[in-house]
Amino acid sequence: MRAFVRLVVVLAVLGGAVFYWLTMPERIYPSTVPAHVVDLANGERMFWAGGCGSCHAVAKASGDEKLKLGGRQELVTPFGTFRVPNISPDIATGIGGWSNADFITAMVKGVSPGERHYYPAFPYTSHQHMTREDLIDLKGFLDTFPAVVNKVGPHDLAFPFNIRRGLGLWKLLYLDGKTFTPDPAASDAVNRGAYLVNGPGHSLRRMPHTADFIGGPRMYRFLAGGPAPEGEGVVPNLTPDKNGLGSWSEADIAYALETGFTPDYDTLGGSMTSVQENMVHLPAEDWAAIAAYLKSIPPIATASGK
Ligand code: HEC
Repeated sequence: MRAFVRLVVVLAVLGGAVFYWLTMPERIYPSTVPAHVVDLANGERMFWAGGCGSCHAVAKASGDEKLKLGGRQELVTPFGTFRVPNISPDIATGIGGWSNADFITAMVKGVSPGERHYYPAFPYTSHQHMTREDLIDLKGFLDTFPAVVNKVGPHDLAFPFNIRRGLGLWKLLYLDGKTFTPDPAASDAVNRGAYLVNGPGHSLRRMPHTADFIGGPRMYRFLAGGPAPEGEGVVPNLTPDKNGLGSWSEADIAYALETGFTPDYDTLGGSMTSVQENMVHLPAEDWAAIAAYLKSIPPIATASGK
C-alpha cells in the first residue's frame, strides 16, 4: 500500500512538473526587438486592418470614440464573458507603461508583462504572423491615442476555462509563432492580401467563424463562415464558393470593403458592418489586395450564403 501511495505521489509530482514545463509562458526579449523608426501611417493601417477598436473601444463606439481604447466591452462566448481590457496609453489602467518588447510579447506570444497567458479571445493566433516592424508601428500609433482612465474588471469564465495556466497547452496546438511568409508563386497583391487577412486582419478572418469546440481555428473551414460566435445570425462565407463570393469580381469585393455595398446594392450586414467600418480607412491598394487574396483561395462549400 505504501509503495502504491508513493507511486501515486511520484506520478502526481511528475505530472505537475510536465504541466508546469509545457505551459510556461514565453517572452520576446528586448534584445531581439529590431531597431526600427516608427512609421505612424503604417501603424494606422495595421490598426484599421486589425479592427482593434471594434473590441477595445468603449461599448458601441462610433466616430472619434473608436480611438478611445478604454476597454469596457463584453464578449459573451460559450466559455463565459470576456471583459476587453483598456489598451489606451494610460499608465495605471492601460498599456502606457509598456515597452515594445512587452507589446510584441502580447501580440505574438499571447503573454502579459506579468507572464500570464492571454485568452485567444484576443486574436493573437492571427497577430503572431505580423512582422516585428508592423507591430512596432502599431504600438507607436496606439501611443498617440488619448489616455483613458478605466480599470476593467476580470473575466467571468467557468471552470476550467478560468485557469489561465492551462492555456499553455492550448497554445501548443494553435500557436506556431511564425511570421507570415509570402508565397513566391503568388502575385504581390495576393501576398499583401494574405498578410492583411491572416495577420492583423482577424476581423475578416474572425477566428470564432472558423473555431472548433475548444476555440481553436478550424483551418479546414478557413473563412467559410458558419454560425456567428455571438449565437445569433450567420457569419458569411468569404471563400469563392457559389454561396460565398463566387459570383463577385475582385472589383465587387474591393467596392464592398470601401462602401459597405454588395454587388446587388444590398448593404453588408451583421458582423460585416463593423469589419467594413474598419476597412474603409485602408488605402485602395489594400482593398484590392484583400479582394485578390479572397478570390485566390480554394472555395469551401456551404449550404447557404445567408
Ligand atoms: C475580437 C476582439 C479583439 C480584437 C479585434 C482585438 N483584441 Fe486585444 N484583446 C481582446 C481581449 C478579450 C483581450 C483580453 C485577453 C485576456 O485577458 O486574456 C485583449 C487583450 C489585448 C492586450 C493586452 C492588454 C492588457 O492589459 O494586458 C493588448 C495589448 C491588445 N489586446 C491589443 C490589441 C490590438 C493592438 C488589436 C488590433 C490589432 C487587438 N488587440 C484586437 C480582444 C480583442
